[in-house]
Amino acid sequence: MSKQAVLKLDDNEFAFPTIEGVEDEKAVDFRSLRSTTGYVAYDEGYGNTGSCQSEITFIDGEAGILRYRGIPIEQLAEQSDFLESSYMILYGDLPSQSQLHEFRSRVRDNAAVSPLMAEALKGFAADAPPMGVLGSMLGALSCYNPELATNDRAVDLENFDQAAAVAIAQTATAAALAFRSSQGKEGNAPDPSLSFGDNFLHLMFSEKGQPYEAIPEVSRALDLMLLLHADHEQNCSTSTVRMVASGGANLFASVAAGSAALWGPAHGGANMAVIKMLEEIRASGDDGSSFIEEAKSGQSGKRLMGFGHRVYKNFDPRAKIIGKACEELLDKMGIDDPCLDIARNLEQAALADDYFVSRNLYPNVDFYSGIVLRALGIPADMFTVMFAIGRMPGWVANWREIAMNPKMKINRPRQIYQGPALRDYVPMESRG
Ligand code: ACO
Repeated sequence: MSKQAVLKLDDNEFAFPTIEGVEDEKAVDFRSLRSTTGYVAYDEGYGNTGSCQSEITFIDGEAGILRYRGIPIEQLAEQSDFLESSYMILYGDLPSQSQLHEFRSRVRDNAAVSPLMAEALKGFAADAPPMGVLGSMLGALSCYNPELATNDRAVDLENFDQAAAVAIAQTATAAALAFRSSQGKEGNAPDPSLSFGDNFLHLMFSEKGQPYEAIPEVSRALDLMLLLHADHEQNCSTSTVRMVASGGANLFASVAAGSAALWGPAHGGANMAVIKMLEEIRASGDDGSSFIEEAKSGQSGKRLMGFGHRVYKNFDPRAKIIGKACEELLDKMGIDDPCLDIARNLEQAALADDYFVSRNLYPNVDFYSGIVLRALGIPADMFTVMFAIGRMPGWVANWREIAMNPKMKINRPRQIYQGPALRDYVPMESRG
């Protein structure tokens, strides 16, 4: 029998069961709290709330551990690739050779968006924010593939393999089409001979008569960037996907909502904010030390972007991997990026500063991912879109977990009302 947690309220005691995760995470099961005590659990920001039981990703923020389906991120970064890890995130296990072949083919074969959608993408203003375009297009996938987005769970699950491939592949294609359209350029057709990452770079940058030439270091860096972002348990955007999915919404609607949640600077927008910060520091002639002082004072509203994490109170393991990859990439490509020097200064200064140390503020994945993306030629306003392309398998897997749970209830938090108490309507002529 599991341990019981006892809650004392006035003279009454209430017992609640506890739950343990496979990695020893402990939770008190408060699902009956309101019905037995009349109280609800107050946890603004959900920092102490286990919103679900999930089998996809494990994080130990104190120890700096991240595992997809049990496998450490370090091993996946070293030995796997984005699509193989995506398969495992979606379906639970590493694929066999034939399963992986089939999955890669399905993603490749679904890379082209419908011609109608390609037309629609041209309709956005040239200066439309890429995340705005992405969110619209993810929602619109249900309009161009209605048979995959019926909101009938059984049907949507039956078509899951196809819908997942469309979501993963066409996010990349549509993002590249929107980018080219914003540049006044015709879109490129997907090239099935290329890997997922190389195809994306081809869609973005190939010009007529100049076939895309893969550079192994570039291919590897992009693939790694996507793999490191592929899932991160119940973050803001993934929780949003689950929230929307819990109401029975189809995959495309759910991931469109997730992408909107990702847009904010405290979440997926941070990689863009890091580059903006580094550029500003560079332009001001500062080596980073004045900025650190400003970020510490809190008065300017500035924060050291790319530092701190809601869950990691230690090094973000992804930052270690991408930081190393970033140095290797710039080295191999002979790129001398002054922003990287500033980033290194900031990192060293912050890691030796009591303000950051005492608050457990370490570099997160975005601290270096922006520099990697810049080296790949991706413009800064596309950085959050790149995050979304990487995160898609995680969103899709979380949608599937909800959709496959027959006991799933619609997610519906409570609140503590603090507005005016009961009062009467005052007719216009009597208002002062
Ligand atoms: N720079 C300076 N001070 C910071 C920073 C930072 N980057 N992050 C947190 N702090 C300080 C806060 O001012 C606060 O100080 P106080 O205790 O004196 O008031 C303390 O550290 C705790 O801050 P919270 O905001 O409560 O920390 P929380 O864990 O909720 O926030 C967050 C995490 C939002 C990521 C925050 O660290 C931040 O804004 N970082 C910069 C943005 C960023 O890099 N976001 C990417 C997140 S990773 C991702 O989404 C992939």
